[in-house]
Amino acid sequence: MKALILVGGYGTRLRPLTLSIPKPLVPFANKPMIIHQIEALKNVGCTEVVLAVSYKPIDMMEEMKKYEDEYKIKITYSHETSPMGTAGPLALAREVLLADNTDMFFVLNSDVICEYPLADLVTFHKKHGKEGTIMVTKVEEPSKYGVVVTKEDGEIQKFVEKPQVFVGNRINAGIYLFNKEILDRIELRPTSIEKEIFPVMSSSGNLFAMDLPGFWMDIGQPKDFLTGMCMLLASPKFKEKALKAPQDASYKVVNDTVLVHPSAKIGKGCVLGPNVVIGENVVIGDGVRLERTTIMHDCKIGSYSLIKSSIVGWSSTVGMWCRLDNITVLGEDVQIRDEVFINGGMILPHKGVNENILEPGIFM
Ligand code: GDD
Ligand code: MG
Repeated sequence: MKALILVGGYGTRLRPLTLSIPKPLVPFANKPMIIHQIEALKNVGCTEVVLAVSYKPIDMMEEMKKYEDEYKIKITYSHETSPMGTAGPLALAREVLLADNTDMFFVLNSDVICEYPLADLVTFHKKHGKEGTIMVTKVEEPSKYGVVVTKEDGEIQKFVEKPQVFVGNRINAGIYLFNKEILDRIELRPTSIEKEIFPVMSSSGNLFAMDLPGFWMDIGQPKDFLTGMCMLLASPKFKEKALKAPQDASYKVVNDTVLVHPSAKIGKGCVLGPNVVIGENVVIGDGVRLERTTIMHDCKIGSYSLIKSSIVGWSSTVGMWCRLDNITVLGEDVQIRDEVFINGGMILPHKGVNENILEPGIFM
């Protein structure tokens, strides 16, 4: 079985992290976002994943090579010279998707995180026997998603992308299973699957919705990235991997919702959590307080700093006695001088910050 992951798009809402690398490669819980998906696809028996790329394909290809070996799955590329939207890439990869002995394939948005119950999706899809199934989940703010209205058995009666008026709160989770026939509906041109294909399929009773069990989040924006991190760290699967402070540890872990890469070094008297991810080769000084925060690989955090509700991009350095708060995001290789306070700053890659930032904003 094959899968296509929609990787294109500039990932502007996740800047400054996506100024250096494509969104799917941004580390989430110490693995590129897309690797969480590739792992799940491999586990359900997929043999090939087609990455539909329209931005920085070379970066993508180089980085993915090592994962192809690690996960023993074939990763191929379908490169758009100009963005084809969310359906156009299926037409572009038509021949690759047809050349497979299973009559269906998965399609995933690259920025959604959940427990990926893909085997259940296959069972549900086969049971109703129609052309497509999309996974749906409930959210409080449906206006930034695609909303579905269904019959009791899951048949979608209405699909409205980013509705201006309230239609319902069950939304498209960005995980699909389609029969190959869907390819006959899609022309080779920029097309939105949500605006041009789903409404047509649902009007003929060919699109079904399956409720996604467990957590779900689109992590394509900093605030949601942190919410998604908290959800993942609270999920049963990740509880096993969470760091339990050893009896004699010189630091304290709050609530067992802390994921620390084994290579990270943590100083004396630190208090970590709830909800913290610490990446590979990170060095944390003494007495550091971290809460609701991701520190990406190769960062250094100076002693007695406090970081809360923030994302520290890879290879960055935060000095001593600093305070980062209120969805501060440091891009790659940012340097924060000792004693600096940042309140909601988005700091562009390779920048040095020597002064306090008191109001949220972008700093270049
Ligand atoms: N190859 C390719 N080419 N991929 C693209 C393109 C393109 O031109 N445009 C967007 N994508 C990819 C994005 O990288 C992402 O993985 C996926 O398509 C969806 O695009 P987003 O830009 O993240 O859309 P969204 O978050 O506003 O809405 C979509 O996702 C929601 C769930 O998170 C829609 O599918 C909604 O219906 C859905 O609820
Ligand atoms: Mg998105």
